[in-house]
Amino acid sequence: MREQVARLTKLTVELLDLSKLDADAIQIRRERVVLGEVATRIAEEFGPATERHRSPIDISDPDGVAARADPERVAQIMRILIDNAPTHTPEGTAISVGTRIEEEFAGLVVTDDGSGIEARSRGRVFERFYTGDEVSGSGLGLAIARELSLRMDGSLGLRSRWGHTQFELRLPVAARATV
Ligand SMILES: Nc1ncnc2c1ncn2[C@@H]1O[C@H](COP(=O)(O)OP(=O)(O)OP(=O)(O)O)[C@@H](O)[C@H]1O
Ligand SMILES: [Mg+2]
Repeated sequence: MREQVARLTKLTVELLDLSKLDADAIQIRRERVVLGEVATRIAEEFGPATERHRSPIDISDPDGVAARADPERVAQIMRILIDNAPTHTPEGTAISVGTRIEEEFAGLVVTDDGSGIEARSRGRVFERFYTGDEVSGSGLGLAIARELSLRMDGSLGLRSRWGHTQFELRLPVAARATV
């Protein structure tokens, strides 16, 4: 019962987000967002789920990479990616989150060593309502995540092969903080 309610609540929130995206009714703030801090907060939120799945999340952000983005939307994308990792992989799959910086973008990279996404699904996972396996999700998470990243002038990419799945959120890099 509790699971059914959680699933319906998630679906309702997802559908509302999509309607807002379609109506251009989503306000995007542009602030300095330290990606590793968001990752740590979301990993804590998912602590019980990842523990149940025996998939502790390893976070590595040695340089304190910062993006210019909306902190709540970055958190939402992170939640979608971290929710998928234990949901669509076998128990015991390792999950890691890292950050990197290249000239014009700040990257947040979520990797798992689950069974990977089949080649024929790879091009489709960002489509609305596409689900690639028998786990009963709504197929909306990644569609929302990609649309939000585009709204922040960023992108969301996927690389996957057998035993490895990696999503990378790229966002405009924040100007260095002046001390
Ligand atoms: N880390 C992953 N490993 C393997 N497959 C994945 C992973 N992340 C996503 N997928 C595949 O991509 C599909 C689409 O993901 P998406 O998050 O959009 O939808 P969902 O998880 O099925 O449902 P929802 O997120 O709306 O509850 C999933 O159904 C799954 O097949
Ligand atoms: Mg999902």
